[in-house]
Amino acid sequence: MKSRGINKNFSGANVDALATVVFKGEKGSTALLKELDSLTGGQISSIISSGEFKGDKGESALLRFKAKKGGRVLVIGAGEKSEYGAPEVAIAAGHAARKLRSCGAKSMAFAPRGSVDASDAAAASVQGAVTSQFDLDKYKTKDKIDKAITNFVVYVDGAKPAQLKSGVERGGIIGDSINFTRDLANEPPNILTPTEMAKRSQKMAKEVGLTCQILSEAQMKKLGMNSLLSVSLGSEQPAKLIVLKYTPKKSTAKKGELLSLVGKGVMFDTGGISLKPGEGMDAMKYDMSGGATVVGAMRAIGMLKPTVPVLGIVGCVENMPDGKASRPSDVVTAMTGKTIEILNTDAEGRLVLADAVAYAEKQGATRIVDMATLTGAVVVALGHLNTGIMGNDQGLVDDMIAAGKEAGEGFWQLPLEGYEGEVKSDIADVKNVGTKRRAGTIAGALFIQEFVDKAKWAHLDIAGTAWADSPQPHQSKGPTGVAIRSLLKLVEMSE
Ligand code: BES
Ligand code: MN
Ligand code: ZN
Repeated sequence: MKSRGINKNFSGANVDALATVVFKGEKGSTALLKELDSLTGGQISSIISSGEFKGDKGESALLRFKAKKGGRVLVIGAGEKSEYGAPEVAIAAGHAARKLRSCGAKSMAFAPRGSVDASDAAAASVQGAVTSQFDLDKYKTKDKIDKAITNFVVYVDGAKPAQLKSGVERGGIIGDSINFTRDLANEPPNILTPTEMAKRSQKMAKEVGLTCQILSEAQMKKLGMNSLLSVSLGSEQPAKLIVLKYTPKKSTAKKGELLSLVGKGVMFDTGGISLKPGEGMDAMKYDMSGGATVVGAMRAIGMLKPTVPVLGIVGCVENMPDGKASRPSDVVTAMTGKTIEILNTDAEGRLVLADAVAYAEKQGATRIVDMATLTGAVVVALGHLNTGIMGNDQGLVDDMIAAGKEAGEGFWQLPLEGYEGEVKSDIADVKNVGTKRRAGTIAGALFIQEFVDKAKWAHLDIAGTAWADSPQPHQSKGPTGVAIRSLLKLVEMSE
């Protein structure tokens, strides 16, 4: 999709369709709406005054130009004007682009309106349009979606051209990076093995100017990463540790400060010897979403070039049952020297992250945000609306929640204090499951915390938010690319 910004003559844009938003309760008396109203022969004022169109979120109305044959005007309901920020702009733009695509439009102009800063409004519009075009049809040979918006114009009245340009560029980078992550999360596990994930990360790193190091099993063995390695003992696929590094030309970070993003890359999770039931097991191809999020976020960081360094780490394994696989009751020694009693081989994500976060700290990380589809329990607690967040530093947790608010992504904190006993083992330092099934999400986080030494650390459990079971007007069902925008905000806040 090609995108550009304009600051005048919205209705004169040479495109297949014009789109904008109408707020709840709005009468349509602004200059832009009046102009569109007259172009459509009064259809806008008519659908508003008849109560047919209320401006509620998720509403849309497709209208026709009176004069220009075939010309279309799409209005999208945007809800309360006072609550219309950049995330809402992205949703409206995405809704418009998806709707117009389905009508066969190839080019469109979108006016976000509202009072969001011009550059941010342009960025959000483009990002929303780009992510709206993602679909799950990669492996279809028939019935592929052959329609696409190939030209997207965002109109912000009177905006400075430089603001528009930078916003459009930023939005494109973020949108493409989110789709990059979604594509990885959607890949079947026979294709996206740990080796293939490493290859794609390497290729991406080269393209955007990050350094990328891939640790082999032999290298991990040498480092003592027996916790991570234990997960893939049953797999024919060798484990890989992906290490991506972004270093700014001129850093504004305090000396020695390093933010690290760490992801769970379980390419497929059968549960191992603690085998999962067959029904629904296919969903476990997305058990590498945390890792895909790190790779996508690092892609965006490489292109956006913030002034602080960022380290990205992904532990990639496949969790399979086999004669060589770990057994419930095995004991392994992690890289930090802590011993782990593996009581359930299906609690494998934390085993991967134990060595991955420790490695991040070994590489100098002073702040770590890990992300993982870690527990079914977080879906019980929070459903699909909020990502669970926990950590050892309230400041970092608060920053992440605040970044999420700006990005339009919800993070809801669960406590760790007082639960520490949950992961104490009878025979080793820690066990990889909590007691019975209680506080499962908290137990998962507490286990990872055992492998963080001095770093400030926050853990994101994205099991409920990384995958959407049903489509929305602005995005397809499937992988959501959740947390990328919030992580980019967190990086921005660190500059
Ligand atoms: N990958 C799963 C968690 C999961 C479940 C993600 C559903 C997405 C949807 C994880 O590895 C797992 O199996 N967790 C267990 C932990 C338990 C054995 C302590 C779980 O949640 O049941
Ligand atoms: Mn599991
Ligand atoms: Zn898992």
